[in-house]
Amino acid sequence: MAFLEITGALVLLLVSYVVYSASTHPRLGARPPPGPTPIPVLGNLHQVPAEGQHIVFTDWGKKYGPVVYAQCLSVKMVILNTLQAADDLLDKRGAIYSDRPHFGLITDVLDWKPNLPFLPYNDQWRKHRRLCQNAVGTTQSLAGFRPLHRVESLKLLMELMQTPEDFMLHIKRYPAALMLEIAYGHSVTSIDDELVVLTDEAVCEITSLGGLASTLIDFFPAVRRVLTWLPSFSVSRRVEKVRGLVQAMMNIPYEKVKQEMASGSARPSFLKTMLEEHTQAQDDMTPEQERELMCLSSIMYSAGADTTGAAMLTFMLAMTLHPEVFRKAQAEIDRVIGSSRLPDWDDRASLPYLECVLKEVYRWNPPGSLAVPHRAMTEDTYNTLHIPHGSMMIANLWGMTRDTNMYRDPDTFFPERFEQMDKVEAELKDPRKIIFGFGRRVCPGRLLGDASVWLAMASIISVFDIAKARDKDGIEISPEVAFVPGSIRRET
Ligand code: HEM
Repeated sequence: MAFLEITGALVLLLVSYVVYSASTHPRLGARPPPGPTPIPVLGNLHQVPAEGQHIVFTDWGKKYGPVVYAQCLSVKMVILNTLQAADDLLDKRGAIYSDRPHFGLITDVLDWKPNLPFLPYNDQWRKHRRLCQNAVGTTQSLAGFRPLHRVESLKLLMELMQTPEDFMLHIKRYPAALMLEIAYGHSVTSIDDELVVLTDEAVCEITSLGGLASTLIDFFPAVRRVLTWLPSFSVSRRVEKVRGLVQAMMNIPYEKVKQEMASGSARPSFLKTMLEEHTQAQDDMTPEQERELMCLSSIMYSAGADTTGAAMLTFMLAMTLHPEVFRKAQAEIDRVIGSSRLPDWDDRASLPYLECVLKEVYRWNPPGSLAVPHRAMTEDTYNTLHIPHGSMMIANLWGMTRDTNMYRDPDTFFPERFEQMDKVEAELKDPRKIIFGFGRRVCPGRLLGDASVWLAMASIISVFDIAKARDKDGIEISPEVAFVPGSIRRET
């Protein structure tokens, strides 16, 4: 009897524990997010292509819903396909979703560290983030860049007038010049500028290597070792070359600014300000501190130039394909500003259609289609779904901009969709809420990037016509809508 009573009490205790755990412990009350069926060992690795992952993830979103789970070997991936899910988790629960997965390719193999976008969520990240935010992310810093923006946008117009056939090069030079001036006080006069050539080559190589090898290297740590052991292996040779470019991209402009400071010829810049602060504090920098400044300055260029340039190239492509949109935006500028001066910042609020065009450019082709993954620092439950600890949280920006609950007929370039929304809806569906990422990791350069794209767009529309090229028989050539594979999407 006593035994039965004890057993009964134990069962009661056990049941109570299970019920209690189910209500408080996420794992027991929750099920994993739906996703494609894995196979033994590989999981879903065979279903994730090396290129065009955003397309596959978007298809999964249509099939399985806003939150999709997949596993590549031991890497747990949670793919967020709607703005709502990304906001709920990466923003509202930022305290547990602001870490990054370890990026072995960038940090270990290419030795590009400490690298702000890929730093774990720790004090070093806080320090770098604050420095970057203060330098480029405030309305005050933006106001300080106005003269630079004006000069560089005028240069862009001159270049486009002189050699319109090289428009892609000119559009590449504009954000590169902005970022090199801001980071190093380096004035860029042509696309052949040595720092533009060096940094562009480095960033392009990293971007394409990201598509080619990051999956392999980041998912198989052993591959990383093999790549560095086998010098004759072609991927290894390529990695070696990119590592050299990355180190040069950090070192060369850094040493240049130091020499210019010594000779008194350094122009104002982020790096100069940082170095002066150390000098004023009479604090000899440690090699680690030097490395930090070197890396942070290089990040400004690499994070800001290609993304801004990608948005501008998308604008050019969209205007070539949609002359009716171009003419409408031009008519607005002519009506509001006239032809005696160029558009300026104060005109922005008076050009609502241009704003719709810009939003549609962002939405139609977000520059980074999968952003930079976050990492779940603990396990969590979201709408009864269990998010495992350590999951790589992938914000599928491409999928979000193609979400038919947000944007009807999403593949069509149609700026009027924003005109047709009331103020509240337009605010909720502003693609800037998507394309610059989420939560504590949201892009610190978003104001600068947005301002740079807006000014270039407004200036180009106000003085030029954009039309399709013609072949030797005078027949219009329609550009193919194709984008370079890799982490930043720009036109080929
Ligand atoms: C149109 C232009 C730009 C776009 C579309 C863009 C987009 C993004 C995205 C999607 C992220 C990842 C956010 C996340 O993890 O949730 C990011 C991060 C970042 N961006 Fe931008 N960006 C642009 C311009 C710039 C500029 C001009 C800078 C200049 C410094 C910059 C610096 C950074 C940095 C440092 C990070 C890493 C932030 C962190 O990890 O805390 N970006 N950006």
